[in-house]
Amino acid sequence: MDFLNDKFECLAKTFFGLENVLADEIELLGGTNVKILNRAVGFTCDKKLLYGANLSLRTALRILVPLAKVNLSDAKDLYKAAMKIDWTKIFNFDKTISVNSYATEPFFRNSNYAALLVKDAISDTFTKKLGSRPDVEKRNPDIVIDVYVNQKQAVISIDASGDSLHRRGYRLEKNLAPLNEVLAAGIILLSEWDGKTTFIDSMCGSGTLPIEAAMIAKNIPPNLRRKNFAFKQWKNFDIFLYNKVRNTLKRNISDSNTRVIGSDVDREAVTISISNAERANVDDYVEFYVAPFEEFSPPDGKKHLIINPPYDERIKKEDIIEFYKMIGNTLKNTYVDTTAWIFTGNNIARKAIGLKPSRKIPLYNGPIESRLLKFEIYEGSRKKSVTDEPT
Ligand SMILES: C[S@@+](CC[C@H](N)C(=O)[O-])C[C@H]1O[C@@H](n2cnc3c(N)ncnc32)[C@H](O)[C@@H]1O
Repeated sequence: MDFLNDKFECLAKTFFGLENVLADEIELLGGTNVKILNRAVGFTCDKKLLYGANLSLRTALRILVPLAKVNLSDAKDLYKAAMKIDWTKIFNFDKTISVNSYATEPFFRNSNYAALLVKDAISDTFTKKLGSRPDVEKRNPDIVIDVYVNQKQAVISIDASGDSLHRRGYRLEKNLAPLNEVLAAGIILLSEWDGKTTFIDSMCGSGTLPIEAAMIAKNIPPNLRRKNFAFKQWKNFDIFLYNKVRNTLKRNISDSNTRVIGSDVDREAVTISISNAERANVDDYVEFYVAPFEEFSPPDGKKHLIINPPYDERIKKEDIIEFYKMIGNTLKNTYVDTTAWIFTGNNIARKAIGLKPSRKIPLYNGPIESRLLKFEIYEGSRKKSVTDEPT
């Protein structure tokens, strides 16, 4: 098998609800045969696109390249399938490896057994061919293998990203309840922000939403500064092609006149946001303020607001119902001419906002079932309040 010499299938993984925006991103990058799957998008790739996708997809968590798809009649078939892959052509024995697995019955009571079989097959292939085998390393492996067994079907893939792509490298400091960077980018893309209207997050915490928005406005690939991608450890890593792809992406970064604003009542959160923005190289672009939402004066004109208020879970509020009422009142009174999106996991308190959402998008924030709610705020919104908003 020639490893990734021409076109090959890839799978980009994401969060529930972000599959469509990820598919749009992949199509825009030139991916073909784009298929929407459950928490993933399949597409046809080549090496150039694989490098570009890892550097620039905002809503992908990792990119896998399937190496074998097999039907199993017992657990040992997984070992046999893994033995058919010539691992020695893919990476050197001096690399460290880790195998992640997900496996269901009937053949696997626990996923670790599936991982163990594939690990054994990799070791046996190397030992037979070269007399030496790669070491297993759980925390920082060079090579990551993914095994997925659903019922009687198994897919063995190699992970091109390694560490999750949400680790952009800018958010070394965080507040109590930060949004995952991939989720934050997904929320902005779902909100259909045009990149031109003033963007505001007036409960910005560690700054994830404004920083991701700034990177979108300036066309900055989110992982441009990241050094570690697992594909760099593969035998076929083409450093010239990688540098070419990276330099082109760098050249496509543009200036933007759009205002991106972050504010928070918590001074420490704003200090963290500024440090994070510095690391993301957007500190001279995003404006940060310390202010309570209810007192902050947004600029005149059209605005695109996205906030992720406390849910009363990790960040507690004395009276969460009153807090959400205050959000609704502030929107009506100070945010005229605004498309406002609220991302919340508090499904009771959100009804106290007192405005009728024009869209409700189900998402998860970690394990918390959440909603991304859209409110169009215009001059007449004050009169149109609703007191009891149905789910
Ligand atoms: C869930 S966190 C936001 C996390 C943020 N999206 C991130 O990625 O780091 C909610 C934020 O709302 C802020 N907050 C709470 N009450 C506020 C108020 N009245 N005005 C402005 N910010 C407030 C908190 O300080 C906290 O940083």
